[in-house]
Amino acid sequence: MSNALVIFYSYTGTSRRVAELLCSQQNWRMAEVLETRPRRGATGTLRCVLDSALRRRPRVRYEGPSPKGFDAVVLVSPIWMQRLAGPMRSFIAERRADLPPAAVVSVMGGTGAPDAIAEVSRLIGRAPLLSTSLSMRSIDDGSCAAQLQAFGTAIRSAEESSDVVRPAVLSPSAT
Ligand SMILES: Cc1cc2nc3c(=O)[nH]c(=O)nc-3n(C[C@H](O)[C@H](O)[C@H](O)COP(=O)(O)O)c2cc1C
Repeated sequence: MSNALVIFYSYTGTSRRVAELLCSQQNWRMAEVLETRPRRGATGTLRCVLDSALRRRPRVRYEGPSPKGFDAVVLVSPIWMQRLAGPMRSFIAERRADLPPAAVVSVMGGTGAPDAIAEVSRLIGRAPLLSTSLSMRSIDDGSCAAQLQAFGTAIRSAEESSDVVRPAVLSPSAT
C-alpha cells in the first residue's frame, strides 16, 4: 500500500526538509503540527528545554487531513534534550485514537532517539512500525537521501505485509 501521511513538527526547519524529501521520494502527503504560541530566540529555546525536562505538552494545532484515512503515518520530529520535542508529544497524546500504525523519524544533532521512540510507544500504546534517526549534518549535506528512500520503501513493505506492528530500527546510524 502507498497511502501514508507524513506528519512533521519543526522548530528551525530541518524536520520540515526531511518531511518534504520523504514526500517527494514516495509521493506521500504531508501535514504539519504547529504551536499556538510560536517560540523565538532565547526564550523560545528555554521553553524547548523546559518542555523536554518536564515532558510538557505545549498547545498545538494540526494542519492536514485526518490521519484516520491513511494506512500509516510517518511522524517526523526533532530531538530536544535527549527527548521527543514537546509539540510532537502534544500531537500524539491528543490524536492517538486517530492514528494508524506509525513510523518515526528522529531529527537531531547526534543523540537522543531511543528515549523519543520509547515515549512514542508509551503514548500510542504500541511500538512504532519502524523508526530511524537522521543527523542534521546528513540532512545539510544531502547524504540522508538514500537512507530516507530506504526507510520509505521499508514502510511500504511493512504495510504490504500482514505483520504491520513490529518494532524495528532500520538504519545502522539509528541510535
Ligand atoms: C532546545 C534544543 C535541545 C536539543 N537537544 C538535542 C539533543 O539532546 N540531542 C541532539 O542530538 N540534538 C539536539 N538538538 C538539536 C536538534 O535536534 C536539531 O537541531 C534538529 O535538527 C532540529 O530540528 P528542526 O530544525 O526541525 O527544529 C536540540 C535542539 C534544541 C533547540
